[in-house]
Amino acid sequence: MRVELLLLVAMCLAGGVGGMSTCKTVNLEMVRLKRIEAIRSQILSKLRLPKAPEPEESGDEEDIPTDLLSLYNSTKDMLTEQETDVQTPISTEQEEEEYFAKVLHKFNATKTNTTESSKVMYFNISEIRRSVGDHRLLTSAELRMLIRSTTIPTEQRVELYYGGGAGARYHASRFVTNELKDKWLSFDVTEPLRGWLQHSGEPR
Ligand SMILES: *[C@@H]1O[C@H](CO)[C@@H](O)[C@H](O)[C@H]1NC(C)=O
Ligand SMILES: *[C@@H]1O[C@H](CO)[C@@H](O)[C@H](O)[C@H]1NC(C)=O
Ligand SMILES: *[C@@H]1O[C@H](CO)[C@@H](O)[C@H](O)[C@H]1NC(C)=O
Ligand SMILES: *[C@@H]1O[C@H](CO)[C@@H](O)[C@H](O)[C@H]1NC(C)=O
Repeated sequence: MRVELLLLVAMCLAGGVGGMSTCKTVNLEMVRLKRIEAIRSQILSKLRLPKAPEPEESGDEEDIPTDLLSLYNSTKDMLTEQETDVQTPISTEQEEEEYFAKVLHKFNATKTNTTESSKVMYFNISEIRRSVGDHRLLTSAELRMLIRSTTIPTEQRVELYYGGGAGARYHASRFVTNELKDKWLSFDVTEPLRGWLQHSGEPR
């Protein structure tokens, strides 16, 4: 299984609050910061870097593969978004362990077909399956799209469908406005992706 379990107990102790029994009473803000730090460390260890890459640093920049840097960047973006979201308090240590065990993967659309009113994105499911493994190992999946240019009169509804052609199924929708320019539009696509991983089908 492609998971890395971080030592949660060690983290609680490192919080400087004493014994293990105090873990559950640790200040939530601190737990949240530690989560973020733990995920950062995971990414950094994958990059085999002692610290976050700094684009200003000249010299060893070429050593970091672009796709890893891009993964690092999107993780950072997602964490920043999560920081501004209202955090739901975590209830059990089990949940925290599951949280730390997650590893992030990023997949680009392999092909897109844009028409006046639609944009079809294709993903290589074999590639995703190869990285993620069994559908049961998938905890969540998000479709993220960067809103680049906006010429929306007032607001516009973006509808997300999955599957191909006549079999396409409605999944979710969002309202977008010009204010969302350069922001990420994201959809939870865990269920469709889990289904695709489960039923070996052609890439879509
Ligand atoms: C995904 O696309 C971006 C931008 O086109 C590119 O920089 C990156 O290397 C791609 N990543 C993968 C894993 O193909
Ligand atoms: C990662 O982000 C830095 C700045 O935050 C940017 O200069 C760099 O081009 C990004 N790299 C990728 C692969 O997205
Ligand atoms: C893009 O979609 C249009 C309309 O469905 C179709 O006619 C066209 O062949 C597609 N192009 C590609 C490259 O798939
Ligand atoms: C999808 O990914 C698999 C495994 O990485 C690769 O062998 C195959 O050529 C890819 N297919 C397409 C259409 O890109």
